[in-house]
Amino acid sequence: MNVDVSSADPLAVETDLLCWMVTEESTGVSGLGEDHALAPAVRQSLGDLRGRFAKTTAVANPGGSPPRMLIAGLGPGSKITADTIRHVAGAISKRAQELGVARFAVVCPDVSGVDPGDAAGQITEGCSLALYDFDAYRSKKAEAEPDLTVVCGADVAGAVARAGAVSDGVRFARDVANMPPNECPPAGLADVARGMADEKRIKCTVLSAAQLSEGGFGGIMAVGKGSDNPPRLIVMEYGGGEGPPVALVGKAVTFDTGGISLKPGEKMDEMKFDKCGGCTVLGIMRAAAEVGLPLNIVGVIPSVENMPGGGSYRPGDIVRLYGGKTAEILNTDAEGRLILADALSYVEERFSPRCIIDFATLTGACIVALGCNVAGMVSDSDDMAASVLLSADRTAERVWRLPLDEDYMDMIKSKVADIKNLGTGRAAGTIAAAAFLKSAIKDTPWLHLDIAGTAWMQPASKKRPYNPPGATGFGVRLILDYLGRIAPGR
Ligand code: BES
Ligand code: MN
Ligand code: ZN
Repeated sequence: MNVDVSSADPLAVETDLLCWMVTEESTGVSGLGEDHALAPAVRQSLGDLRGRFAKTTAVANPGGSPPRMLIAGLGPGSKITADTIRHVAGAISKRAQELGVARFAVVCPDVSGVDPGDAAGQITEGCSLALYDFDAYRSKKAEAEPDLTVVCGADVAGAVARAGAVSDGVRFARDVANMPPNECPPAGLADVARGMADEKRIKCTVLSAAQLSEGGFGGIMAVGKGSDNPPRLIVMEYGGGEGPPVALVGKAVTFDTGGISLKPGEKMDEMKFDKCGGCTVLGIMRAAAEVGLPLNIVGVIPSVENMPGGGSYRPGDIVRLYGGKTAEILNTDAEGRLILADALSYVEERFSPRCIIDFATLTGACIVALGCNVAGMVSDSDDMAASVLLSADRTAERVWRLPLDEDYMDMIKSKVADIKNLGTGRAAGTIAAAAFLKSAIKDTPWLHLDIAGTAWMQPASKKRPYNPPGATGFGVRLILDYLGRIAPGR
């Protein structure tokens, strides 16, 4: 989606569709005086709409300029949250697309307590993300995306440019996550990462199966063994500032059958989304480079296909993880923690990062506990957890912290190896998986996001215009907000 900004009087903006947001209490729209020729028509539409949340009503202005207007409801002014404007902007953009206009303009609402820059950014995100449609493999292509003009009296050009880059990062993450598993094996994912990195001048190194085997990545190699598509480790380095990098690690199982511990067939197709953690890392790196975040970031993506076959790893196997710990395999479907453990140990040893954040569609238990609107968060750093919670509020990418203390570490003790890849029965499955990850890290502050419920739209997902069907890109906006706040001079 193309976006620009205008600080002109709304009625002077050249556009095909001029859009306003109003609350239930609104008696008029900004920039349109009572004596204006359009005032009676707008007043009538306001009355019809009564500010109802995410509803829209069009006002025709035949032969005039603009030729059409749209009024959209924000609901009661007292209930407006950080997500209201994003949600309503998404609804507006879909309506603009249905009307077939080439350009639409959205006037920043004047809502007390909402910073104009934030509002302009939310409008940009809401529209860009709602207009996203994964049509790469369809003959009937998506309808054209209209161009957006954000209209605001204040200077919001920087905020809009940033929100545009963030949205492009989310859209990129979705594009890769939505790729079918036959078209995106680990080597294919690595090619996609390399292409993006070249374009954004990010350094990218890809370790081959031979290098992983040689390098002692026993978790990645074990899980990857059952597939004809060999594993990869993607390492991306963005240099935007001084000092140790922030490390981002993302699970990218390009397809998860469960392996020898085969999953039931129902909805197995959705396990193409088991690469979403890695895609989130790609989206963040892309946007960070685009806006020139003054930080160093390293992104590490272990990628495998988890398949059953004569070469597969088995329940009962003991594998040696990167860094030397041994792990007893009790279920080959608990593969994410094995490949992530290698990647976490590697990134800590190789880059001495200031902190590590990982993203993974790790446990079905997370969906049982939290559903599909909130990601599970586990961290050994109260500071990181508090800061990410603040970003969750700002971005409406919600997270809920689960505990992880020494008592839980007992759940992954093995009788025959250092640790095991299962917890204790059905108890706290999300925390048991996180305990396995924690055991791979020595002393770097770490925060884990289990995005099993939030990475793609599922029946229990709350529907929002800016989250169309398929992958959501969850975590890209959340962690870019966090990184923006820990970067110097911002
Ligand atoms: N990728 C799955 C988790 C998952 C399942 C995410 C459904 C989203 C929707 C993961 O690899 C897995 O299979 N986890 C197992 C762990 C269990 C064997 C301890 C699970 O959750 O059942
Ligand atoms: Mn699995
Ligand atoms: Zn998995």
